[in-house]
Amino acid sequence: MTHTTTDDLHQRYAGHAPAWTPHLEHPVLQSLLRHRSVRRFLSTPLAPGVLDALVAAAQSAPTSSNLQTWSVVVVQEQALRDSLAALAGHQAHIAQAPVLLVWVADLSRALRLAEAAGQAIEAHQYLDTYLMASVDAGLAAQNVVAAAEALGHGTVYIGALRNHAREVARLLALPRGAMPVFGLVVGLPDPAAATAIKPRLAPAQVVHFDRYRVPDDEQEQIADYDVALRAFQRANGLPEVGWTPAVLQRLKNGQSLNGREHLREAVQAAGFELR
Ligand SMILES: Cc1cc2nc3c(=O)[nH]c(=O)nc-3n(C[C@H](O)[C@H](O)[C@H](O)COP(=O)(O)O)c2cc1C
Repeated sequence: MTHTTTDDLHQRYAGHAPAWTPHLEHPVLQSLLRHRSVRRFLSTPLAPGVLDALVAAAQSAPTSSNLQTWSVVVVQEQALRDSLAALAGHQAHIAQAPVLLVWVADLSRALRLAEAAGQAIEAHQYLDTYLMASVDAGLAAQNVVAAAEALGHGTVYIGALRNHAREVARLLALPRGAMPVFGLVVGLPDPAAATAIKPRLAPAQVVHFDRYRVPDDEQEQIADYDVALRAFQRANGLPEVGWTPAVLQRLKNGQSLNGREHLREAVQAAGFELR
Protein backbone atom coordinates (compact mmCIF):
# COMPACT_ATOMS: atom_id res chain seq x y z
CA MET A 1 0.00 0.00 0.00
CA THR A 2 1.40 3.44 -0.85
CA HIS A 3 2.14 5.95 1.85
CA THR A 4 0.02 9.11 1.52
CA THR A 5 -0.04 12.58 3.04
CA THR A 6 -3.29 11.60 4.73
CA ASP A 7 -1.41 8.84 6.58
CA ASP A 8 1.13 11.40 7.80
CA LEU A 9 -1.63 13.77 8.87
CA HIS A 10 -3.30 10.97 10.83
CA GLN A 11 -0.08 10.55 12.77
CA ARG A 12 0.38 14.30 13.19
CA TYR A 13 -3.10 14.61 14.65
CA ALA A 14 -3.29 11.20 16.31
CA GLY A 15 -6.07 9.85 14.15
CA HIS A 16 -8.01 13.13 13.88
CA ALA A 17 -6.61 14.40 10.60
CA PRO A 18 -8.31 17.47 9.16
CA ALA A 19 -9.69 17.21 5.64
CA TRP A 20 -6.93 17.27 3.06
CA THR A 21 -7.43 18.61 -0.42
CA PRO A 22 -5.75 16.09 -2.72
CA HIS A 23 -4.64 18.68 -5.26
CA LEU A 24 -2.44 20.17 -2.51
CA GLU A 25 -0.25 17.05 -2.64
CA HIS A 26 3.25 18.40 -3.08
CA PRO A 27 6.70 17.04 -2.28
CA VAL A 28 7.58 20.12 -0.18
CA LEU A 29 4.46 19.75 1.95
CA GLN A 30 4.91 16.00 2.17
CA SER A 31 8.43 16.47 3.47
CA LEU A 32 7.37 19.16 5.98
CA LEU A 33 4.50 17.07 7.32
CA ARG A 34 6.81 14.11 7.86
CA HIS A 35 9.17 16.04 10.13
CA ARG A 36 10.39 14.32 13.26
CA SER A 37 13.42 15.15 15.41
CA VAL A 38 16.21 12.60 15.17
CA ARG A 39 18.34 11.78 18.22
CA ARG A 40 20.36 8.79 16.97
CA PHE A 41 22.79 9.43 14.12
CA LEU A 42 25.45 7.69 12.09
CA SER A 43 28.85 9.33 12.47
CA THR A 44 29.22 9.41 8.65
CA PRO A 45 30.37 12.88 7.52
CA LEU A 46 28.00 14.93 5.38
CA ALA A 47 28.53 14.09 1.69
CA PRO A 48 30.40 16.67 -0.39
CA GLY A 49 28.20 19.62 -1.26
CA VAL A 50 25.55 18.97 1.38
CA LEU A 51 26.83 21.59 3.82
CA ASP A 52 27.04 24.18 1.03
CA ALA A 53 23.47 23.37 0.02
CA LEU A 54 22.27 23.71 3.62
CA VAL A 55 24.02 27.07 4.02
CA ALA A 56 22.48 28.30 0.76
CA ALA A 57 19.05 27.20 2.02
CA ALA A 58 19.68 29.06 5.30
CA GLN A 59 20.74 32.22 3.49
CA SER A 60 17.69 32.00 1.25
CA ALA A 61 15.41 32.53 4.24
CA PRO A 62 13.81 35.94 4.63
CA THR A 63 15.77 38.27 6.91
CA SER A 64 14.51 41.41 8.63
CA SER A 65 15.34 44.50 6.53
CA ASN A 66 17.94 42.32 4.78
CA LEU A 67 20.20 43.03 7.76
CA GLN A 68 21.31 39.34 7.90
CA THR A 69 22.01 39.62 11.60
CA TRP A 70 22.81 35.94 12.11
CA SER A 71 25.82 33.71 11.67
CA VAL A 72 26.27 29.99 12.04
CA VAL A 73 29.24 28.13 13.48
CA VAL A 74 29.67 24.71 11.87
CA VAL A 75 31.13 22.60 14.66
CA GLN A 76 32.80 19.46 13.33
CA GLU A 77 35.75 19.00 15.69
CA GLN A 78 35.00 15.99 17.91
CA ALA A 79 36.50 17.44 21.11
CA LEU A 80 34.45 20.61 20.71
CA ARG A 81 31.26 18.67 20.06
CA ASP A 82 31.98 16.56 23.15
CA SER A 83 32.34 19.72 25.27
CA LEU A 84 29.18 21.25 23.83
CA ALA A 85 27.28 17.99 24.36
CA ALA A 86 28.29 18.09 28.04
CA LEU A 87 27.27 21.74 28.39
CA ALA A 88 23.90 20.95 26.82
CA GLY A 89 22.94 18.43 29.50
CA HIS A 90 25.02 15.55 28.10
CA GLN A 91 23.02 15.14 24.92
CA ALA A 92 24.83 12.26 23.22
CA HIS A 93 23.53 13.04 19.71
CA ILE A 94 25.65 16.22 19.67
CA ALA A 95 28.82 14.15 19.97
CA GLN A 96 27.52 11.34 17.73
CA ALA A 97 26.42 13.23 14.61
CA PRO A 98 29.08 14.68 12.30
CA VAL A 99 27.94 18.30 12.56
CA LEU A 100 26.49 20.68 15.10
CA LEU A 101 25.37 24.01 13.70
CA VAL A 102 25.36 26.76 16.31
CA TRP A 103 23.08 29.62 15.33
CA VAL A 104 24.23 33.01 16.45
CA ALA A 105 22.32 36.28 16.84
CA ASP A 106 25.07 38.38 15.35
CA LEU A 107 25.28 42.13 15.61
CA SER A 108 29.08 41.99 15.70
CA ARG A 109 29.27 42.34 11.90
CA ALA A 110 27.24 45.56 12.06
CA LEU A 111 29.46 46.81 14.89
CA ARG A 112 32.57 46.13 12.77
CA LEU A 113 30.89 47.89 9.86
CA ALA A 114 30.14 50.90 12.04
CA GLU A 115 33.70 50.97 13.31
CA ALA A 116 35.12 50.79 9.80
CA ALA A 117 32.79 53.62 8.73
CA GLY A 118 33.71 55.64 11.80
CA GLN A 119 30.04 55.87 12.75
CA ALA A 120 28.37 54.99 16.01
CA ILE A 121 25.35 52.66 16.13
CA GLU A 122 23.29 51.90 19.19
CA ALA A 123 20.08 50.20 18.07
CA HIS A 124 21.67 46.82 18.82
CA GLN A 125 21.20 47.73 22.50
CA TYR A 126 17.43 47.43 22.19
CA LEU A 127 15.50 44.26 22.93
CA ASP A 128 13.83 44.40 19.54
CA THR A 129 17.15 44.14 17.71
CA TYR A 130 18.16 41.09 19.73
CA LEU A 131 14.75 39.55 19.10
CA MET A 132 15.03 40.34 15.38
CA ALA A 133 18.43 38.64 15.14
CA SER A 134 17.12 35.60 17.05
CA VAL A 135 14.02 35.35 14.86
CA ASP A 136 16.17 35.59 11.72
CA ALA A 137 18.47 32.85 13.05
CA GLY A 138 15.40 30.67 13.65
CA LEU A 139 14.09 31.20 10.14
CA ALA A 140 17.48 30.36 8.61
CA ALA A 141 17.84 27.25 10.76
CA GLN A 142 14.37 25.99 9.92
CA ASN A 143 15.20 26.30 6.22
CA VAL A 144 18.14 24.02 6.97
CA VAL A 145 15.83 21.54 8.70
CA ALA A 146 13.53 21.48 5.67
CA ALA A 147 16.44 21.14 3.23
CA ALA A 148 18.25 18.50 5.29
CA GLU A 149 15.11 16.39 5.62
CA ALA A 150 14.42 16.70 1.89
CA LEU A 151 17.93 15.32 1.34
CA GLY A 152 17.28 12.34 3.64
CA HIS A 153 19.11 13.73 6.66
CA GLY A 154 17.88 14.11 10.21
CA THR A 155 18.11 17.05 12.58
CA VAL A 156 17.40 18.04 16.13
CA TYR A 157 17.47 21.51 17.63
CA ILE A 158 19.51 22.09 20.77
CA GLY A 159 17.97 24.83 22.90
CA ALA A 160 19.98 23.45 25.82
CA LEU A 161 23.05 25.24 24.43
CA ARG A 162 21.59 28.24 26.28
CA ASN A 163 21.95 26.40 29.62
CA HIS A 164 25.55 27.62 29.65
CA ALA A 165 25.40 30.29 26.97
CA ARG A 166 28.45 32.21 28.13
CA GLU A 167 30.62 29.09 28.12
CA VAL A 168 29.35 28.15 24.65
CA ALA A 169 30.18 31.65 23.39
CA ARG A 170 33.66 31.35 24.89
CA LEU A 171 34.33 27.90 23.37
CA LEU A 172 33.28 29.17 19.94
CA ALA A 173 35.31 32.38 20.28
CA LEU A 174 32.24 34.52 19.58
CA PRO A 175 33.06 38.24 19.42
CA ARG A 176 31.20 40.96 21.34
CA GLY A 177 27.75 41.45 19.87
CA ALA A 178 27.34 37.76 19.00
CA MET A 179 25.26 35.38 21.08
CA PRO A 180 24.48 31.67 20.58
CA VAL A 181 20.72 31.20 20.26
CA PHE A 182 20.42 27.43 19.76
CA GLY A 183 22.13 24.52 18.10
CA LEU A 184 21.02 22.20 15.33
CA VAL A 185 22.46 18.71 14.98
CA VAL A 186 22.56 17.42 11.40
CA GLY A 187 23.47 13.98 10.14
CA LEU A 188 22.23 10.75 8.66
CA PRO A 189 19.67 9.09 10.93
CA ASP A 190 20.76 5.75 12.42
CA PRO A 191 18.47 3.31 10.58
CA ALA A 192 18.48 1.07 13.67
CA ALA A 193 16.63 3.73 15.68
CA ALA A 194 13.05 4.19 14.51
CA THR A 195 11.55 7.68 14.60
CA ALA A 196 7.93 8.65 14.32
CA ILE A 197 5.78 11.69 13.63
CA LYS A 198 4.93 13.26 16.99
CA PRO A 199 1.28 14.26 17.39
CA ARG A 200 0.40 17.92 17.86
CA LEU A 201 -2.58 19.73 19.34
CA ALA A 202 -5.66 19.82 17.13
CA PRO A 203 -5.49 22.77 14.69
CA ALA A 204 -8.55 24.43 16.28
CA GLN A 205 -6.57 24.77 19.52
CA VAL A 206 -3.88 26.92 17.98
CA VAL A 207 -5.57 28.71 15.08
CA HIS A 208 -7.76 31.79 15.57
CA PHE A 209 -9.63 33.66 12.90
CA ASP A 210 -9.61 37.45 13.10
CA ARG A 211 -9.62 37.53 16.90
CA TYR A 212 -8.20 35.30 19.60
CA ARG A 213 -10.89 33.21 21.26
CA VAL A 214 -10.09 30.61 23.89
CA PRO A 215 -11.66 27.41 22.50
CA ASP A 216 -14.76 26.27 24.48
CA ASP A 217 -13.47 22.71 24.46
CA GLU A 218 -9.86 23.55 25.30
CA GLN A 219 -9.58 21.40 28.43
CA GLU A 220 -11.27 18.36 26.81
CA GLN A 221 -9.13 18.69 23.71
CA ILE A 222 -5.96 18.92 25.75
CA ALA A 223 -7.03 15.89 27.80
CA ASP A 224 -7.46 13.99 24.51
CA TYR A 225 -4.04 15.21 23.39
CA ASP A 226 -2.52 14.01 26.65
CA VAL A 227 -3.87 10.53 25.89
CA ALA A 228 -2.53 10.67 22.32
CA LEU A 229 0.89 11.85 23.41
CA ARG A 230 1.13 9.18 26.11
CA ALA A 231 0.28 6.57 23.46
CA PHE A 232 3.02 7.99 21.22
CA GLN A 233 5.49 7.93 24.10
CA ARG A 234 4.53 4.33 24.98
CA ALA A 235 4.88 3.20 21.37
CA ASN A 236 8.28 4.85 21.09
CA GLY A 237 9.74 3.58 24.37
CA LEU A 238 9.69 7.04 25.98
CA PRO A 239 8.57 7.91 29.51
CA GLU A 240 4.76 8.23 29.46
CA VAL A 241 4.57 11.78 30.70
CA GLY A 242 1.82 13.17 28.49
CA TRP A 243 1.68 16.85 27.60
CA THR A 244 0.07 18.74 30.50
CA PRO A 245 2.53 17.51 33.15
CA ALA A 246 5.45 18.24 30.82
CA VAL A 247 4.27 21.80 30.15
CA LEU A 248 3.68 22.51 33.83
CA GLN A 249 7.02 21.02 34.85
CA ARG A 250 9.02 22.73 32.10
CA LEU A 251 7.50 26.12 32.90
CA LYS A 252 7.31 25.66 36.67
CA ASN A 253 9.88 28.22 37.73
CA GLY A 254 13.32 29.65 37.00
CA GLN A 255 15.13 26.51 38.10
CA SER A 256 13.24 24.43 35.56
CA LEU A 257 15.07 26.47 32.89
CA ASN A 258 18.31 24.60 33.70
CA GLY A 259 20.55 27.66 33.68
CA ARG A 260 18.63 29.65 31.09
CA GLU A 261 17.09 31.67 33.94
CA HIS A 262 20.39 33.58 33.79
CA LEU A 263 20.18 34.24 30.06
CA ARG A 264 19.53 37.96 30.41
CA GLU A 265 22.87 38.41 32.18
CA ALA A 266 24.63 36.28 29.54
CA VAL A 267 23.11 38.28 26.69
CA GLN A 268 24.02 41.53 28.40
CA ALA A 269 27.57 40.29 28.96
CA ALA A 270 27.78 39.66 25.19
CA GLY A 271 27.15 43.37 24.61
CA PHE A 272 23.38 43.65 24.29
CA GLU A 273 21.81 45.93 26.88
CA LEU A 274 18.26 44.71 26.03
CA ARG A 275 16.89 48.22 26.60
C1 LIG B 1 14.29 25.87 19.66
C2 LIG B 1 14.22 24.38 19.97
C3 LIG B 1 15.06 23.84 20.91
C4 LIG B 1 15.07 22.46 21.13
N1 LIG B 1 15.98 21.93 22.01
C5 LIG B 1 16.09 20.58 22.11
C6 LIG B 1 17.14 20.00 22.89
O1 LIG B 1 17.95 20.68 23.51
N2 LIG B 1 17.23 18.64 22.90
C7 LIG B 1 16.36 17.84 22.22
O2 LIG B 1 16.52 16.60 22.28
N3 LIG B 1 15.35 18.36 21.48
C8 LIG B 1 15.21 19.70 21.41
N4 LIG B 1 14.22 20.25 20.61
C9 LIG B 1 13.31 19.37 19.85
C10 LIG B 1 11.89 19.36 20.42
O3 LIG B 1 11.90 18.63 21.63
C11 LIG B 1 10.97 18.71 19.38
O4 LIG B 1 10.96 19.52 18.22
C12 LIG B 1 9.55 18.56 19.93
O5 LIG B 1 9.51 17.65 20.99
C13 LIG B 1 8.61 18.07 18.83
O6 LIG B 1 9.08 16.83 18.32
P1 LIG B 1 9.38 16.64 16.77
O7 LIG B 1 10.41 17.67 16.38
O8 LIG B 1 9.93 15.24 16.64
O9 LIG B 1 8.11 16.83 16.03
C14 LIG B 1 14.15 21.63 20.44
C15 LIG B 1 13.28 22.21 19.50
C16 LIG B 1 13.31 23.55 19.28
C17 LIG B 1 12.36 24.15 18.25
